[in-house]
Amino acid sequence: MPGWELIGEEERAAVNDVFDHGAVLYRYGWADKRENIFRVDEFERVFAERMGIKHALAVSSGTGALIAALKAMGISRGDEVITQSHTFIATVEAIVEVGATPVITEVDASLNMDPADLEKKITKKTKTIIPVHMMGVSARMNEILKIARAHKIPVLEDNAQCCGGTYKKKKLGTLGDASITSFDFGKVLTTGEGGMIITNNEAIFKRAREYSDHGHELNPNFPRGEDTRMISGINLKMNELQGAIGLAQIKKMDYIIGRQRENKSRIKKALSDIPEITFRDVPNPEGDTGDSIIFSFSSRDETKAFMKLWTAKGFGTKNLPDAINWHFAGTWDHMLEHFPKYKGKDLLKVFAQSDDLLRRAVALPIFVNMPDAQIEKTVKAVHDCIRQM
Ligand SMILES: Cc1ncc(COP(=O)(O)O)c(C=O)c1O
Repeated sequence: MPGWELIGEEERAAVNDVFDHGAVLYRYGWADKRENIFRVDEFERVFAERMGIKHALAVSSGTGALIAALKAMGISRGDEVITQSHTFIATVEAIVEVGATPVITEVDASLNMDPADLEKKITKKTKTIIPVHMMGVSARMNEILKIARAHKIPVLEDNAQCCGGTYKKKKLGTLGDASITSFDFGKVLTTGEGGMIITNNEAIFKRAREYSDHGHELNPNFPRGEDTRMISGINLKMNELQGAIGLAQIKKMDYIIGRQRENKSRIKKALSDIPEITFRDVPNPEGDTGDSIIFSFSSRDETKAFMKLWTAKGFGTKNLPDAINWHFAGTWDHMLEHFPKYKGKDLLKVFAQSDDLLRRAVALPIFVNMPDAQIEKTVKAVHDCIRQM
């Protein structure tokens, strides 16, 4: 997920350009001073065009995007929202923040939502399903959408970690009723912090825009100071510096994903002769953004033995296992204990299938800039560790 690897002269020039044209850092107003240049507007337009979707709303973070999208989809207290056990904690935080009850599915060998478990978790109170495309790989969207449609439940894709990925030739983030992505510093595209909601549903778009801007309807008949409002909201707006950087970053998207895919496939090929490891099940390999390569051992002890050798050699991992506590609901007692379904339960047992799959996994980060020597060193180190185990 390395937009940060390519931050450079283009982003610097984009920021300078904001200062060369009036230095208005706010997304609305001051039309003369800013010479009529509105960068967040332009970023939304370019992003929507790139995704082939009608509406894009830029906001201050991916977490904010999730909250605004859930609000816009009418989620409130007492509603159940289903998501998966392997995700960044923000997905569940957003559900809790809007007052809804999180209901969490196991993941399967794709390390994304297990459709069989989704089916079991649907109740009359389920109001939205949030599949998360974790670490560059899509969830099993055909199965998930089929279940959601059969129950007439809207789908909000959390595409924070797979921006630019596809599923059966369709762009991720365009399969559900709405989706969000993140532009924090670890993502495919980065604006430092930032996020985007995209949808073809005009009502969701408008409600999310209002919520993220204190209820402002952007009524064309009134100046902003006299704008009309129907709902109360908060402030989740993106600023012009982020918009400018986003416009520079999006031009690099194809290059970023192309390089990652190539680097991933080279490493995967070079590790494919190791009988001790099983690669993550990727539902749609050609849509993978190449964010990371994940393999697992048949037991936790083997994974631990590998990790001991791997870290001793000075290598790191990406989230699994180093930051598993931020990416696995089995460790989120502090949030889930507030809900009767999870209160007092041993969450590691509640999510036993995910616990097993995630604890046996090792995720290696893939970068855009991976010189041949680095790829060879990584591959050799994996082979060496496994030989020494
Ligand atoms: C799956 C997922 N959802 C949501 C978010 C939240 O995004 P942000 O950091 O922009 O708030 C993240 C960020 O890491 C994420 O990985």
